Amino acid sequence: MTITINGQPYDPPADKRVSLLDLLRERFDLVGTKKGCNQGACGACTVLVDGERILACLALAAQYDGRSVTTIEGLANGEDLHPLQALFVQHDGLQCGYCTPGQIMSAVALGNEFSRDAPSSVTSDLDGPATPSREEIRERMSGNLCRCGAHNGMIDAIVSYLSEHS
Ligand code: FES
Ligand code: FES
Repeated sequence: MTITINGQPYDPPADKRVSLLDLLRERFDLVGTKKGCNQGACGACTVLVDGERILACLALAAQYDGRSVTTIEGLANGEDLHPLQALFVQHDGLQCGYCTPGQIMSAVALGNEFSRDAPSSVTSDLDGPATPSREEIRERMSGNLCRCGAHNGMIDAIVSYLSEHS
């Protein structure tokens, strides 16, 4: 079995105690995925596994044997930024940048959730299409904290992204 990271296959870690976050940062030097709280409270370590977001600090790497992990380093296409990366810059959706990789990975997953009409806790019509209102976006991004308070720009960037890509 292998763990696929940003499209490259790797042997899973021999040490079953290693978190996915530590594997990414310490073995593969993928330090775009940040270690904030290391206890599931801040969202800085958000990565995608088969298109769904998880907190890498709460995940044991060995659990993801056979799965495909995408980090912020795997989002751009060479020199071409992912549209959400460009829109975060355009809308001033960052200040110090520490939370930004996790915010962007969450926003990518959020787009996937809207695509399959997955409801959130503020969705009123569970049978209807998921509508990407600002309230919905705020709720779905609420697991990603930003100490700089750049949330308004991030929400603007995500609204713009969803209007162009959904
Ligand atoms: S470092 Fe994982 S949630 Fe904060
Ligand atoms: S941009 Fe600084 S913590 Fe979010």
